[in-house]
Amino acid sequence: MTQLVLPELPYAYDALEPWCDSETLHLHHDKHHRAYVDKANAALEELRIVDPSDAARYAGLEAAREFNLGGHVLHSLFWENLSPEPVRPAGAVAEHLDAAGGVDRVRSLLTAACMGVQGSGWGVLAFDTASRSLQVGMVHDHHAQHVPGSDLVAVVDVWEHAYYLSHRNDRAAWVSAAIDHLDWAAIDGRLDAVTASLAASS
Ligand SMILES: [Fe+2]
Repeated sequence: MTQLVLPELPYAYDALEPWCDSETLHLHHDKHHRAYVDKANAALEELRIVDPSDAARYAGLEAAREFNLGGHVLHSLFWENLSPEPVRPAGAVAEHLDAAGGVDRVRSLLTAACMGVQGSGWGVLAFDTASRSLQVGMVHDHHAQHVPGSDLVAVVDVWEHAYYLSHRNDRAAWVSAAIDHLDWAAIDGRLDAVTASLAASS
C-alpha cells in the first residue's frame, strides 16, 4: 500500500496574495492538509489489522478514513487548480463549459454551490461519467454529498480555515476571488485525463 505524502504547493506561499494570504496558506497546507495526510495514513494502516468482529472500532476507523483521505484528495486538487494569475478556459473544458450554459453560468452555479454549503465543505465542478457532462455540486465536510461515478475536475474550499484570517466571515469575497483564480488549463488537463480514460474503457 502506498504511503500518502503531503504534496508541495505548486507556487510560493505568498503567490496568491492578497486574496489568499501567506499565513493562511502556511496553516492551511502545512498544518491542516498535513494532519489529513497523517490521519489518513494511520486509519489505512489500522484498517489492515482491525478485528472485523469489533464493529464499533471498524466504523470509527472507516469514518476516519473517509474524512481524512477525502481531505487529502480534495486539498491536493485544490492547490493544483488555483493560479496566481487568472487563466481563461480553452480547449475541451471551454467546449464543455459552453455545453453547460457558458462559463458565466457555470461560474454563477459554482458560486451558489460554494455559498450554499452549510457549515464546512466545498463547491465542486465534476465530470459526470453517466451523462458525460460538467456538473456543479457540493461536498459536505470532505466526503459527503458527492455523486458516485463523477470525477472531480475543480474544487473550491469553503471551510473557514481557508479564508478567515483575510476575509473574516465574508465567504462571498473568498469564493469570488478563488473562482477568479481557477487554473482552467489545469482543469482542462484533468478533464482530458477523465475523458481519455472513458474512451479507453468503452
Ligand atoms: Fe481546507
